[in-house]
Amino acid sequence: MLQLSSNFHRARTHNMAVTCLYTTLGLLFGAAVAFGPVPRITWEHREVQLIHFQKPEVFNYSTLLLSDNKDVLYVGAREVIFALNSVNITEIHHELYWKVTEDKKTKCADKGKSKQTECLNYVRVLQPFNDTFLYVCGTNAFQPICDHLNLVSFELRGKTEDGKGRCPFDPAQSYTSVMVDGELYSGTSYNFLGSEPIISRNSHQSPLRTEYAIPWLNEPSFVFADVIRADQNSTDGEDDKVYFFFTEMSVEYEFVGKLMIPRISRVCKRDQGGLRTLQKKWTSFLKARLICTTPDKNLVFNIIKDVFILKSPSLKEPVIYGIFTPQLNNVGLSAVCAYNMSTVEEVFSKGKYMQSATVEQSHTKWVRYNGEIPKPRPGACINKEARAADYTSSLNLPDKTLQFVKDHPLMDDSVTPIGDRPRLIKRDVRYTQIVVDRVTALSGSVYDVMFISTDKGALHKAISYENGMHIVEETQLFPNFEPVQTLLLSSEKGKRYLYAGSNSGVVQSPVAFCDKYSTCVDCVLARDPYCAWKPHEASCINILKEDEIERDWIQNIDGDASSCTDKVRENCLHHTFKPGNIAELKCSQKSKLAQVVWKFKDHILKIESPKYRLLEKALLVFNLSEGDSGIYQCLSEEKVKNKKFSQVVAKHVLEMKKIQSTTVGPTQPATETEGNSNVPKISTVPTEGSTAQTSPTQLISITGRVITKPIIPILTSAASNPDIFNSVPDGVIEKTMFLKSNDNFLLMFLFLFFFVLFLCLLSYNCYKGYLPGQCLKFRSLMLLGKKKTKSDFSECEQSVKETLVEQGSTQNQNGEQPKPAHDTGYETEADCGNGQIQHDDSSQAFKEVKDKPFDVKCELKYADSDAEGD
Ligand SMILES: *[C@@H]1O[C@H](CO)[C@@H](O)[C@H](O)[C@H]1NC(C)=O
Ligand SMILES: *[C@@H]1O[C@H](CO)[C@@H](O)[C@H](O)[C@H]1NC(C)=O
Repeated sequence: MLQLSSNFHRARTHNMAVTCLYTTLGLLFGAAVAFGPVPRITWEHREVQLIHFQKPEVFNYSTLLLSDNKDVLYVGAREVIFALNSVNITEIHHELYWKVTEDKKTKCADKGKSKQTECLNYVRVLQPFNDTFLYVCGTNAFQPICDHLNLVSFELRGKTEDGKGRCPFDPAQSYTSVMVDGELYSGTSYNFLGSEPIISRNSHQSPLRTEYAIPWLNEPSFVFADVIRADQNSTDGEDDKVYFFFTEMSVEYEFVGKLMIPRISRVCKRDQGGLRTLQKKWTSFLKARLICTTPDKNLVFNIIKDVFILKSPSLKEPVIYGIFTPQLNNVGLSAVCAYNMSTVEEVFSKGKYMQSATVEQSHTKWVRYNGEIPKPRPGACINKEARAADYTSSLNLPDKTLQFVKDHPLMDDSVTPIGDRPRLIKRDVRYTQIVVDRVTALSGSVYDVMFISTDKGALHKAISYENGMHIVEETQLFPNFEPVQTLLLSSEKGKRYLYAGSNSGVVQSPVAFCDKYSTCVDCVLARDPYCAWKPHEASCINILKEDEIERDWIQNIDGDASSCTDKVRENCLHHTFKPGNIAELKCSQKSKLAQVVWKFKDHILKIESPKYRLLEKALLVFNLSEGDSGIYQCLSEEKVKNKKFSQVVAKHVLEMKKIQSTTVGPTQPATETEGNSNVPKISTVPTEGSTAQTSPTQLISITGRVITKPIIPILTSAASNPDIFNSVPDGVIEKTMFLKSNDNFLLMFLFLFFFVLFLCLLSYNCYKGYLPGQCLKFRSLMLLGKKKTKSDFSECEQSVKETLVEQGSTQNQNGEQPKPAHDTGYETEADCGNGQIQHDDSSQAFKEVKDKPFDVKCELKYADSDAEGD
């Protein structure tokens, strides 16, 4: 039974390989028609140093907060709050379990919610309150509560407050909050059903909230909130303002179905509400549409996913960065739009309002309001001008103004992005979160570096320059490709890290991987404002980690690497080959913007020739002969702004080997290697050469030949005609056929083999009388035909054994990759290797085949001797 199941296992992995192939084709196709810049480098999860934090049984690490200067990262997860060392998040300073009482859980479950998931306490608010306390809120089984967390004892104060309006009831609902001078501003829903949206201020002196009315908030989905402080140097006495970002259902556009609209809204910090009209409600709530469309309006990005407001002393004004997607997003389009704060201010302080007009009976339509606007201007903050007119507080604003803003919270003017177009449009990706860092490059130019996370656990780092966008790199933050739900940037000097939260854990990543670039050209072509080349150390360094900047460092964000003087790396790999073989010359070239060029004896190779085949990370040379000996160089050519930079990535020397043995075989299946190399690599098979070699040996392709080989000779008797295989086919069709028939043979062989094995076991057991009496008849039959059966078996056994001995003579007992004894083919690095799935699972099949004959042999012998003894 074990054999059968492993047989099935093989069939399944085979299908998996096929699926992988299709996926790759899909990806290639996608890349061919890709929209937007391609990340220059992709770092796999294991390639870069990331720090992970996760605790067993703890999920939904959805809220992150950095302490101002204490090197602490606070993490709000499901039922737990952690305080971690922000320099190394694996170090837990404190943890606090904040669980729902059993009684609350039961009540929640009685209302039809899931006791295992929804009726738990999801931490949704984690805000700094003062030096010793954090303000925290959790969903608490659909009865949101808030409390103060003592940072010294890491205990809750225990004076729970009703979290209604500050924290959602439902963990699946959107929420946002920001703490401003000890008062919590939040956007969330106010009831159990989540049907009553609210933007509120939680304050003892003057709690305020939005009207519960469609013109104010219409099924919003909150994404972000932040405060923008008034300019201290300005004389207009403006107020600090709190901005909210959300997507809501449009009232102003007619559309088949629901049209969503991205919005920015704002309230003033000194708002006290109205005295009669708008009592305990915002008198300064205004909202406007955020525009994020291509200039030709063909692509409309109307769902806002996340916002980051870049505030920096070097900036004249804050810049708002938003991530958008279209409403119907089956192709996975995402965009980044940036807005000037002054543009936003202008819309709210000078723009036109919208008003609803009743057309026909009950149908309302929103149109621009062109009538007289009451004074003071509705929705404006109380500034110097208002105070001069004796309006010292919103409480003494005239009813006319308040009534107007109550009915007209929506602006007719929209907020247009900087440059009237998205900064970045990218296809085949769904962006989830964004943070932006402002970096001064060596040249003194300032770059806004955008870190954008995806729903597949990756992070894109992008910079914009005069007329375009460059994605420096893509980093796989989470190995399981889950969505990144929170992104946080620590911009403290010397401690710049990114923190990403997901359902399964938190990841800490450096902002740049400069040390990954080993040459000056590579370091400069990365066009990463954090990285520069330090010539006397010959290393690529992060300039923000250095104490002082030196003159001779090389950096060029335009990608001009001409001041680099890299020496050509002289280490080459030697390979020996046998005539007729195939050589696989590895060349792993990370940049996706570069082209690979191969040179042989200093001449550019014509890859189109059937003699060669260019793979993603290697060159195959078929049918090797004396004339193919020599030096092969792999060059990476990268063109930036019409300048081409090329560097030697790998150097191989091919030498013909003196033939010392004339064994059949191992030469041929190299063909198979070639056929299989189309299969993308998924996992690396740890390989260790069984023979000592100075250079690591590539065994993967060799594995392939060992496994499948025994089968073919048996079933096709092709072994008697080795020339068929020795002449290397050059067409693709031939190879695929080889692969296919090969597989069928293997399956058929395995089937026959196991069938015979089954008969064997059955007869043996029958013979021994382990089986019930009915088989006695069968037994006597078997005994009669014993001779025949026996010979059948020994034949089969022998042929299997033979090939195995031939192939497996170097096979290590510890299950290491087999390597043929008679022919070393050629030798090259070990970490290369394509089509590993195939080889991998074939090698498993091989092991089965290998193990089995001896079992059979054993049992048969026993049966035989037993029979003889009878
Ligand atoms: C919490 O995490 C679990 C496990 O990954 C996930 O299935 C669930 O959807 C998450 N819930 C919320 C509300 O994010
Ligand atoms: C935004 O502000 C920058 C400088 O602060 C300015 O150069 C640019 O023209 C502004 N863009 C818009 C659309 O107002």
